[in-house]
Amino acid sequence: MLSRGDNKLDIHGRIPSHVGIIMDGNGRWAESRGLPRIEGHRRGSERVKEIVEVSLDIGIKCITLYAFSTENWQRPKSEVSMLMKLLELYLKNELSKLVKKGIVFRTIGETWRLPENIQKLIKDTTEMTASNKGMTLVAALSYSSRNEITRGIKKIIASGIKPEEVTEDLVTSSLDTDGLPQPDLIIRTSGERRLSNFLLWQSAYAELYFTDVLWPDFDKEEFMLALQDFQGRERRFGSLPVSSNAS
Ligand code: FPP
Repeated sequence: MLSRGDNKLDIHGRIPSHVGIIMDGNGRWAESRGLPRIEGHRRGSERVKEIVEVSLDIGIKCITLYAFSTENWQRPKSEVSMLMKLLELYLKNELSKLVKKGIVFRTIGETWRLPENIQKLIKDTTEMTASNKGMTLVAALSYSSRNEITRGIKKIIASGIKPEEVTEDLVTSSLDTDGLPQPDLIIRTSGERRLSNFLLWQSAYAELYFTDVLWPDFDKEEFMLALQDFQGRERRFGSLPVSSNAS
């Protein structure tokens, strides 16, 4: 197993096109230091900036961050509003950087459930970055995969299509992620080893990387370890290894 200091990412090697990240452990990070949970989220949003920068530098084409799940609405009102405030600050403070760096910003999830000021910021950021040509930064907001798939099915049925015309491609294009590459790598921090309703359809062939590191401690070096681990995986998409004898 690789550890910190083994900085051997082959940047000429296989770099995942699309990385999805379940940013978990903000609350535990704060609680273990006797700090309010929101401090963990605040520190977590600093990590978002760092990981976006690194992703840009190494040529990742798309990164999807699980920032707020449909289930997160059940958290105490004060925590939800602080998370919204952090999101607002992130969008306001980072917008010019996103534009300058050629990043395309988009969201997945039921963003119409978010406070109006956030919806407006999302709309502005999406529009102002739409013609950019660089990396795509996707924020999963008020998102859950089952909810997304259910909405997709409703769209398909409403279009009046016949059952025999339903294909995997049609389902894929009815999802919020329409047009994005499928994720090659899903990272989850904080020791939990499950997908928790994140990109379930899209992750059919994704490599999964779980680390005990809490999101506020997930720095560039930890990200490199995840990418190195990915480079060591053999991806077969259900077929035989390239080296195997097909006889
Ligand atoms: C999980 O930690 C994290 C979240 C619910 C929110 C993630 C939000 C951020 C990183 C900050 C804002 C995001 C952006 C895009 C600026 P948890 O609270 O579930 O941690 P716990 O499991 O330790 O309680």
